[in-house]
Amino acid sequence: MEQQLQQLKEEALKKIQDAQGVKELNDVRVAYLGKKGPITDLLKGMGKLPAEERPKMGALVNVVRETVTEALESRMAVLEEAAIQAQLENESIDVTLPGRPAPAGNHHPLTRVVEEIEDFFISMGYEIAEGPEVEKDYYNFEALNLPKGHPARDMQDSFYISEDVLLRTHTSPVQARTMEAKKGEAIKIICPGKVYRRDNDDATHSHQFTQIEGLVVGENIRMSDLKGTLDLFAKKMFGADREIRLRPSFFPFTEPSVEMDISCFKCGGAGCNVCKKTGWIEILGAGMVHPNVLKMAGYDPSVVTGFAFGMGPERIAMLKYGVEDIRHFYTNDIRFISQFNRTEA
Ligand code: DAH
Repeated sequence: MEQQLQQLKEEALKKIQDAQGVKELNDVRVAYLGKKGPITDLLKGMGKLPAEERPKMGALVNVVRETVTEALESRMAVLEEAAIQAQLENESIDVTLPGRPAPAGNHHPLTRVVEEIEDFFISMGYEIAEGPEVEKDYYNFEALNLPKGHPARDMQDSFYISEDVLLRTHTSPVQARTMEAKKGEAIKIICPGKVYRRDNDDATHSHQFTQIEGLVVGENIRMSDLKGTLDLFAKKMFGADREIRLRPSFFPFTEPSVEMDISCFKCGGAGCNVCKKTGWIEILGAGMVHPNVLKMAGYDPSVVTGFAFGMGPERIAMLKYGVEDIRHFYTNDIRFISQFNRTEA
């Protein structure tokens, strides 16, 4: 029996040394020291021994049990420490790793152009005015000297909500609304916003687009004021060496009416694909506010005069950034939109 005990001890100690994990070691503990283990069995079998052998054997079994228990405990300490170490290594944070970039949004190219235009006019003392996109026929047409049946209405086919209500076809109705609200006071505003036309969408047409309207009303507002303003604007948006050219045109709400071109920013006027070999690029419509428009809004055209202009930010953005299809602004393709970021241009 002594030999058996010795063997048992060695076997247990070897298994303890060989155990590679906490769980494995626990299994060894249960196998050797548990209630159904061999050491417990030996202690239970003590009764069958002759009385004189019992103390000696009892002491031997206890020594073996203590030796095994101690070995278990010290191995357990080692394995637990190793487990913690392994966990620490696994979960450690490498602070030198580059961070994962959080995808940040950008301003939409159109928003950028609109804000750039707004910034320019705000710096010139203009205020920003807004009006409804669902507009009355009266403000969209009539108050702008476009009575029912006027042939120029055909140029701006609209989406009608009812006979008298439509989606505005331009931002010009904000002129009439602002004059009505200001009741004869001087005015210096720009009005950015969405407009709608019944057009078939293609590379240069969209049924929804953006406009920015300008209106200045007061005493002694002259055509030269309009020209100087547009000249500064063209230089701010397209480069300090731009020149402008005013060509006679027609709008029912201005008299005289003009169309403004800028000298081509790509070729400087020599002729290229951007300016279609003319050296000039058409940018906006403008003119002196028609006396009828002033009158209808309660202003006295013999006392005050005004100028107005209207432009399309899409066209300006397309020119500035070389965008070849207006639909890119609305189809929300991230590959298009992410080409524009706040820091450049
Ligand atoms: N409303 C015009 C359009 O949509 C643009 C325009 C031209 C606005 C001349 C103006 C202006 O204020 O004076 O085609």
